[in-house]
Amino acid sequence: MRAVVFTGAGANEIVSFEERADPSPTGGELLVQVRYAALNGADLAQRAGRYPAPAGSPQDIPGIEVAGVVIARGETARGFEIGDRVFGIVGGGGLADRVVVHERHVVAVPAALEDAGAAAVPEVFITAHDAIASLAGLRPGELLVVTGANGGVGTAAIQIGVVSGARVLATVRSVDVRRDVAALGAEVIGQSDLVERAQQLGGADVVIELVGAPNLESDFGALATKGRIVIVGTGAGVDAEISLRTLMGKRARMIGTGLRHRPLEEKALAVQLFGREVVPHLATRRIVPLVDRVFPAEEAHAAFDRMEGPGKLGKVLLDFGE
Ligand SMILES: NC(=O)c1ccc[n+]([C@@H]2O[C@H](COP(=O)([O-])OP(=O)(O)OC[C@H]3O[C@@H](n4cnc5c(N)ncnc54)[C@H](OP(=O)(O)O)[C@@H]3O)[C@@H](O)[C@H]2O)c1
Repeated sequence: MRAVVFTGAGANEIVSFEERADPSPTGGELLVQVRYAALNGADLAQRAGRYPAPAGSPQDIPGIEVAGVVIARGETARGFEIGDRVFGIVGGGGLADRVVVHERHVVAVPAALEDAGAAAVPEVFITAHDAIASLAGLRPGELLVVTGANGGVGTAAIQIGVVSGARVLATVRSVDVRRDVAALGAEVIGQSDLVERAQQLGGADVVIELVGAPNLESDFGALATKGRIVIVGTGAGVDAEISLRTLMGKRARMIGTGLRHRPLEEKALAVQLFGREVVPHLATRRIVPLVDRVFPAEEAHAAFDRMEGPGKLGKVLLDFGE
């Protein structure tokens, strides 16, 4: 197989593209042949040496999701046939053209979704659905705020909020992407306008925080009574001062999340709920994955640079070719 490999910790100087032996699925695992693989913030953090893969996952091949065709099965895998198209999440090893994944960590790709679109889905839609539906318990008619809304998780979260019957307020910092983000069904503003606008609308019931510590003061200011803040991403900083008086006064909840290091069954639950509650909307195209750019897999350096840079709209993909 061909794979993106990390040879240490640092920046692009530790990223190489290598031929490796194909992995073999065992037990309930599947071997998936991949055309397109998506980058995530986790890959950048792993490249910097801050976010190692969980035990049992490939340690030097990054990539936390997979979309492709089943080409082999472990001895007890029963859920899928050879040739089925599947997508889901892995602990590591995703930036390769052959990926081993547990069968409970994938669901079937709907026919309406072409291969590049399918690759843009699993990690960000599973994360967004888990945060919005399972952790925050968003209800129809509530106000959902999504910060850093033009990236992968943000564009997924807006659309999940819309199909859930919520009103969605999205914050982005790049003016260029505002119109495209608004087209997903959100009112788009800058983070500095969040408190005023959210309060005009009665307060935010749920905030999906994708940027990190610098946003927390305004997130709390925007919150309605009994509001929930889910901390999903902290790329802009991890240390924040919060007012416990505000937390108590609003009877608010702040919830942290992370998908990658969950035990098998807990991860499986998040994936299967995504399969039940999001995939039907992908099948009818009411929800659409957004692909920012596709790079040949050999040009992983350029893809990492794009992933790291500002102003993306959706996902950055690698193309491993036919
Ligand atoms: N907890 C989990 O399980 C989990 C799962 C998936 C992702 N994540 C994390 O969640 C975050 C979002 O993921 P993603 O895939 O959507 O990433 P992404 O596509 O890179 O999007 C990041 C978003 O954050 C904004 N942003 C980044 N730095 C910022 C700053 N200093 N100030 C203001 N805005 C900033 C970006 O705006 P610009 O375009 O203007 O830079 C963009 O809107 C990442 O940190 C990722 O690692 C966590």
